[in-house]
Amino acid sequence: MKILVINGSYREDGVTDSAITCAVDELKLGGHEIEQVVLRDTPIEFCLNCRHCMQEPGEGPGSCVQDDDMTAIIERIESADAYILAAPVNFGSVTAVFKRFMERLSGYGYWPAGQPYPLLRKDKVSPKKKALIVSSCAAPGLLDRMVFGSVRQLKNTAHLIGAKPVGVVFVGYADKASSAGLRKRQVGELLESAHRLVA
Ligand SMILES: Cc1cc2nc3c(=O)[nH]c(=O)nc-3n(C[C@H](O)[C@H](O)[C@H](O)COP(=O)(O)O)c2cc1C
Repeated sequence: MKILVINGSYREDGVTDSAITCAVDELKLGGHEIEQVVLRDTPIEFCLNCRHCMQEPGEGPGSCVQDDDMTAIIERIESADAYILAAPVNFGSVTAVFKRFMERLSGYGYWPAGQPYPLLRKDKVSPKKKALIVSSCAAPGLLDRMVFGSVRQLKNTAHLIGAKPVGVVFVGYADKASSAGLRKRQVGELLESAHRLVA
């Protein structure tokens, strides 16, 4: 299978990178092909909110008026079989680079003028692709579920591109983990979720 990783961490070899590497190494051992989009190294423009990409009906994402790397990213999203979507918590939310990426996925919505809310183009597509969600924060992990929005935002991104989350790995107390030092339980969760992704 072809797995596309979207990495919204700012830090090379930080907690998010370590978690991704753990899952990716396992998937490579299983013979799966991995593609990675590291958002910190991928300059894309902000969404213009013009809704051009949302006007035409259809299952495929609408095209953007901007000419940048997002076109190639969407092609990679469309051709991938499954996803790893990852971003740490910054000020209670996914990072700004991941949020910018999310907003540029507007073409996955159909929202013509006069319609009160957008419809998700991939909503009725079946079977769904699968997604693994990875996030981390300095606070206890439970707090993210209760207060912060990163997991919800990453799950929403999965739904938007037509994928069903099959695993959530959250590294809480991230400051206590050394960059390479995921805890044993988290490594176990990552390996198990990686297997679920390609099952
Ligand atoms: C600017 C900034 C804002 C942050 N905001 C939060 C936050 O709201 N809640 C939290 O628990 N941790 C917060 N953190 C901690 C990060 O989520 C945590 O260190 C995370 O593991 C970083 O991921 P990385 O190792 O992939 O860079 C913040 C860190 C920074 C630098």
